[in-house]
Amino acid sequence: MIDIHTHILHNIDDGSNDIDKSIAQLRIMDAGGIQRVYLSSHYFHGHYQYERSDYDLKLADLRQAAQKAGLKIDIQSGFEVFIQPGIVNDVISKSLFLGDSQYVLIESELNGIPADFYDNVYPLLRAGCKPILAHAERYVSIMHKPSTVRNLIEKNIYIQTNAGSLLGYYGEKVRQTAWILINNGWTHILASDDHVRGDYKAFFKAKKIIQERIDDKTANLLTSEHPAMIHASLNIPYSYVIVKHIPPRRKSFLRRIFA
Ligand SMILES: [Fe+2]
Repeated sequence: MIDIHTHILHNIDDGSNDIDKSIAQLRIMDAGGIQRVYLSSHYFHGHYQYERSDYDLKLADLRQAAQKAGLKIDIQSGFEVFIQPGIVNDVISKSLFLGDSQYVLIESELNGIPADFYDNVYPLLRAGCKPILAHAERYVSIMHKPSTVRNLIEKNIYIQTNAGSLLGYYGEKVRQTAWILINNGWTHILASDDHVRGDYKAFFKAKKIIQERIDDKTANLLTSEHPAMIHASLNIPYSYVIVKHIPPRRKSFLRRIFA
C-alpha cells in the first residue's frame, strides 16, 4: 500500500510538530503494510510558503531518523499545493511534485472552488504536470452535486479521496459524497491526509470497507496500483471502471411461439 497524502513532515505546516511523533506514525504505517509514503506538506502563498531547500533539510532529518529506527517504509517528498494565480511558477521552480514524478497534489477553497480555478490549473497542465485534486468529497460544490467531479476528470484532473471521509470523520454529507465518488469510479486514489493528531488506522479501516462493500480489485487499485504508477511515471487511467454489458437473454423457440 502507498499513501500519497500526509502531513507527517515535522514543523513545516499544520501537521506533525515533533519528529518523534512523526517516527511513531511512520512505525504504525510500516507495521500495517504501507510501503511508500509521500510527505505532502501544505504549500500555500502567505500561509505555508518556504524554500525547497528548507523542506529538503527536514526531509533528510526524518529519513535519517526513520533509518535509525529500522523502518523499511520508502519516504518520498511531496506537497499539497493551494491553487492560486501564478502557482505554476512555484511548482516548476521549486519542483513541488510528488517525488520525482510529474504528479502534483492540489487543493482549493473548500467552501467553493473559485471562478479562476481552471485558469490557474491549465498552466500546470500545459507545463506537463498531472494534477490530483485532494479530498474532492470535502468541497461544498461537489457535496451538492457529486457528478460534477466528472468535469474535473474530463479536464485531466485526477481525484483523491480521504480514508476518513469514508468513515464519517468529516460529517455525514462528506461520507455520503465520498461513497458516491468511489461507487461510480470517480476517484483514483485513497489517501490518509494524516496530520499526526490521532492514530493512523483510518486508512486500513477504509480499505477493508471498500473490499467488503465493493471488491478487492477496487481496494487494491485505489490504495496500491494507482499510487504505484506515480513513482513509476506511468499514466493513471482517468476512467477505470469497466461496465460489462450483458446481452438480453433470447427467448426459447417454444416460449416465442406461446408468448
Ligand atoms: Fe492535506
